[in-house]
Amino acid sequence: MVIFDSRGSETVEVELVSGNISARVGAPSGKSRGAKEVMPFPENDARKAVQAFNTVLKQRLLGFDASDQRGVDELLKKVDGTENFSRIGGNLAYAVSAASAVLAARAQNIPPWAYIARLSGLKPCYPLPLGNVLGGGAHAGEGAPDIQEFLVFPQHVANVVEAVKCNVEAHRRLGRILLRKVGGFGGGRGDEGAYAPPLDDEKALEAVKEAVEGLNQGLGLDVAASNMYNTERDRYVYRNRGVEKTAEEQLEYIAGLVERFGLAYVEDPFHEEDFESHRRLCKMFPRLLVCGDDLVVTRARLIGEAARKGSVRAVILKPNQVGTISDTIAAAVEAERNSIVRVVSHRSGETCDGFLAHLAVGLGATFIKAGVLGGERVAKANELIRIYGQHGESLLLAEVGYA
Ligand code: PGA
Ligand code: ZN
Repeated sequence: MVIFDSRGSETVEVELVSGNISARVGAPSGKSRGAKEVMPFPENDARKAVQAFNTVLKQRLLGFDASDQRGVDELLKKVDGTENFSRIGGNLAYAVSAASAVLAARAQNIPPWAYIARLSGLKPCYPLPLGNVLGGGAHAGEGAPDIQEFLVFPQHVANVVEAVKCNVEAHRRLGRILLRKVGGFGGGRGDEGAYAPPLDDEKALEAVKEAVEGLNQGLGLDVAASNMYNTERDRYVYRNRGVEKTAEEQLEYIAGLVERFGLAYVEDPFHEEDFESHRRLCKMFPRLLVCGDDLVVTRARLIGEAARKGSVRAVILKPNQVGTISDTIAAAVEAERNSIVRVVSHRSGETCDGFLAHLAVGLGATFIKAGVLGGERVAKANELIRIYGQHGESLLLAEVGYA
């Protein structure tokens, strides 16, 4: 059925039933989407996805074995028949694929994370929350920073509950600092619950750095540079500041921020075709987690390419970028094969679904990037806490290899 996401846009939710067991998964929606992602909905319309479900999919799913994940995912591709899920929509494909995994897990009486771990063969662990505390770009209004996300993550914490608490504390402290220091700022937040103050990128980073003082947290950015990039002029346009940069100037600027603020993580610092500049940034900072989102869009083939070229040390995994659990697992396995850090991520338009936490644990992700505050963000953190409540120290907390 059609439901609303956190932005109030329509998206889809799927419920699959087998005997007296059922599983329901809602699909999120991105705003800062990569060009190589699958189509979220047929003709951009969530209602058309539901129509497609009723007319071409439902009948074929009846009686299907949910524990055959590959079979379900192949069926989704076959029924769609396009390269990019443009007929049924990647969001519908994702919701069916994930609901099937949850249903199979329930039928086998194991938690969804354990089912995903079994399918992937990866070692499950509790991921560290990578939290967006301040934002701009496509996720906020005019005057906010041009960089999309300013991120924090806990280092040296005892467990995943402490890790979540650490990010919440950073978000809270940052709010107090911004209200005190930024004239006219009333505490407004962007799409992911991160503060959206009228500051330039550097002033924003200074505020975040001040907020994490004494908290022992790592700092990062999601530049989301494809959104800034003007293909015709071959320039990065910092719209809110009225500045343009060439690729060379962009590299210098990002490198300057990494040095000045001691950043540990930088996502999408260059546009989605520029493997070479990503490689140069990796080379300049041997320990920096240069992370590909739009660059690799959860596709195993592109992750392999980025790894061969030395362009990334981390990759974002957003299951609805590719549409199925099987392909998300393939992307995670390809990352593991190349010693690339996995970051399982929400979208800016989210639902209160907690499945993402299970996916992150089951894929042995180092990070889960799911925001800090707002019901739809906290839903993922709370699901992690529930998993910890049930399984305690039988799973380990991820460690950051590079930071
Ligand atoms: P989204 O992007 O708005 O497409 O979810 C978030 C991100 O760039 O990580
Ligand atoms: Zn991103």
